[in-house]
This record gives sequence, C-alpha cells and structure tokens, in this order.
Amino acid sequence: MVRIASALATLASIAAIASAQQCTGNGSCCPNGQDGVSSTYLQCNSWTGQYVSMNCAAGQVCYANPNQPGFAMCGLPGTGGSGTCTGNTAKCTAPGQSGAYQQCQNWSGQYVSASCPAGLNCYNNASGTGVYCN
Ligand SMILES: *[C@@H]1O[C@H](CO)[C@@H](O)[C@H](O)[C@H]1NC(C)=O
Ligand SMILES: *[C@@H]1O[C@H](CO)[C@@H](O)[C@H](O)[C@H]1NC(C)=O
Ligand SMILES: *[C@@H]1O[C@H](CO)[C@@H](O)[C@H](O)[C@H]1NC(C)=O
Repeated sequence: MVRIASALATLASIAAIASAQQCTGNGSCCPNGQDGVSSTYLQCNSWTGQYVSMNCAAGQVCYANPNQPGFAMCGLPGTGGSGTCTGNTAKCTAPGQSGAYQQCQNWSGQYVSASCPAGLNCYNNASGTGVYCN
C-alpha cells in the first residue's frame, strides 16, 4: 500500500514537471513568452521533450521569430518584432549623435551592429531605409 502510494506520488510529480516544460521537435521560445527582455531563450530538446535554457549572443535578447512561427531568435534590444528586417536596410542607433547603426543581415533577417568610420556620425537617409555617415 505504502509503496503504491509513493509510486503514484512520484508519477504525479514527473507529470507536473513534464507539463510545465513540455515541448516537441526543435522549436524554441522566449521565457514567459516575452519579447525583448531575456538574454536567454528556451530551446526544445526533442529527445527529452523539455526546454533547455540557452544564451543569446552577448548583448542580444530573445524575440519570437515572426518569420518562423514556433521559433525564437536573438536580436539587439529595441529591434525586436520589427527587429526583423529585409534586404540591405539599415538604421542609425542615435542619428547625428554617434556613428553606431544597425545593418540588416539579409540572409538572417536580423539587424547586426555596425559603425561609421571613426569620427563620423550616422544619419538615416531620406527614405529612412538606409544610412550614411558624415
Ligand atoms: C527543426 O525542425 C524543422 C521542422 O521539423 C526542420 O525543418 C528543421 O530543419 C529543424 N532544424 C534543426 C536545426 O534541426
Ligand atoms: C544579400 O545581399 C548580398 C550582398 O548585397 C546579395 O548578393 C544577396 O543577393 C542578398 N540576398 C538576398 C536574399 O537578398
Ligand atoms: C536609402 O538607403 C537604402 C539602402 O541603402 C536605399 O535602398 C535607398 O534607395 C536609400 N534612399 C534614398 C532616398 O537615398
């Protein structure tokens, strides 16, 4: 009697853990489903069916990937959701105040950090889709 009760309790706690972290396939998501907050993302381990916490690259945060539902992506803070980009677009981080800008990496659809040559500031171009340094 005691042994059965104990086994049932163990099964119940395993089920609780599984339902809390259950996932299938190789999908990924952001902790608590929140965009632009966490420097980690949850990667499904398809073998165990449980999420594993993974680190974004230094300085990046987790976003749901709008181009790939069910998957997370990491990007620079403040770029997410609209953090995805297409083509050769770029935007200044602080127009006229620094040379820093974000350049779209057209194959990944994410912005990457870039910088004007030393001493030059970044300006958004007339259409707002590109930058120039001056
Ligand atoms: C993840 O799963 C999708 C759908 O099954 C598959 O197309 C993709 O190649 C997988 N990616 C990796 C890294 O295993
Ligand atoms: C990405 O940019 C490179 C270099 O400008 C270009 O050769 C390539 O065709 C572009 N790819 C896409 C998918 O736009
Ligand atoms: C702004 O920059 C983008 C990307 O280089 C370019 O495609 C676009 O034509 C530029 N717009 C203007 C008005 O110069």
